[in-house]
Amino acid sequence: MRVLVTGGAGFIGSNLVDALVARGDEVVVLDDLSTGKRENLEAAGDRARLIVGSVADYDTVLAAAEGCELVYHEAAVASVQRTVEAPVETNQVNLGGTLNVLEAARAVKARRVVFAGSAATYGDNPDLPLREDAKPRPQSPYAIEKLASEQYVKVWADLYGLETVTLRYFNVFGPRQDPGSPYSGVISIFVDRLLRGQVPTIFGDGEQTRDFVFVSDVVRANLLAGTVDGVSGRVFNIAGGGPTSLNQLYGHLRSVIGGAERPNYAEARAGDIRHSLANIDAAHEGLGYRPGVPVAEGLARLVEAVRAAR
Ligand code: NAD
Ligand code: UD1
Repeated sequence: MRVLVTGGAGFIGSNLVDALVARGDEVVVLDDLSTGKRENLEAAGDRARLIVGSVADYDTVLAAAEGCELVYHEAAVASVQRTVEAPVETNQVNLGGTLNVLEAARAVKARRVVFAGSAATYGDNPDLPLREDAKPRPQSPYAIEKLASEQYVKVWADLYGLETVTLRYFNVFGPRQDPGSPYSGVISIFVDRLLRGQVPTIFGDGEQTRDFVFVSDVVRANLLAGTVDGVSGRVFNIAGGGPTSLNQLYGHLRSVIGGAERPNYAEARAGDIRHSLANIDAAHEGLGYRPGVPVAEGLARLVEAVRAAR
């Protein structure tokens, strides 16, 4: 089967591309390489074809989608902080890009679109662990862009019979997550700093928590969301299934890598969520998803992979 993966040169997208190629699919990647990298597609070889272009341009998306039966929409500006700083620009990619992908999928008569949603849409909701029917409380442009995207995704299933599924990822970590910018995911930054002998910075008091999930589990959830019948129009939390505070995270990593007894602390970020924790019963019931890699094991695997790559 031919599959389109937007954002397929990025962290999650490229891990997904590898899994699709391994099961025999022919993959088209549409990526503008803003945070993604060509080398993330080296392992996939010539069964993955990269088109360099933006999801914000409809004609580009349409050309990339030609002949594709399944579409994974991973392309986005993934940094909450970046959307706070540049909301007009990120809306064009994060919301406009989703609409272009849905319209292109409809035009080429694709069977299904699987959308990379986000736990950020819940905001600071105290009803933890969060179920999919919890009231959304977006508190950043990013969360609004992902929530509005989800609604387009749902309505396109209702209006046009295009099968669509949203996976609300919680905090994903693993190999290929780029530590290279202040906007990068916290685990990639902490691992990079500690391996360089530097002291990472925690924004706030470090007691905020996240439900970290290893990338191989997110890839598996995506494979299931692309194939399982009877789930069109649904939304599923995809998470590791437990809370980790940033102070605990620092402690885990320090025990694997070594480093200063205490991290640096700086002012909390605007728009930051305090606690994020998923109920993953729906993903288990609907998709057969269960996380397979505990956080401590994922961190050890990640550190090994980063060390091996250096
Ligand atoms: P990433 O930055 O590694 O991947 C995003 C990819 O999209 C990159 O390859 C980037 O070059 C590409 N891209 C950005 N703008 C584009 C555009 N205009 N046109 C085409 N390609 C473009 O980040 P990631 O962590 O792999 O995120 C993948 C998806 O998962 C994103 O939609 C993100 O919002 C979502 N998500 C990520 C997490 C997480 O914890 N990493 C959690 C929830 C949701
Ligand atoms: C992350 C994802 C976002 C996703 C969301 C889902 C990234 C870059 N962001 O957002 O795409 O939709 O999860 O839950 O992957 N922090 C530090 N020090 C640092 C960097 C971060 O203390 O050097 C803190 C942040 O203030 C925050 C926590 O770590 O409290 C997590 O931050 P981050 O990794 O940027 O992720 P989220 O904002 O949760």
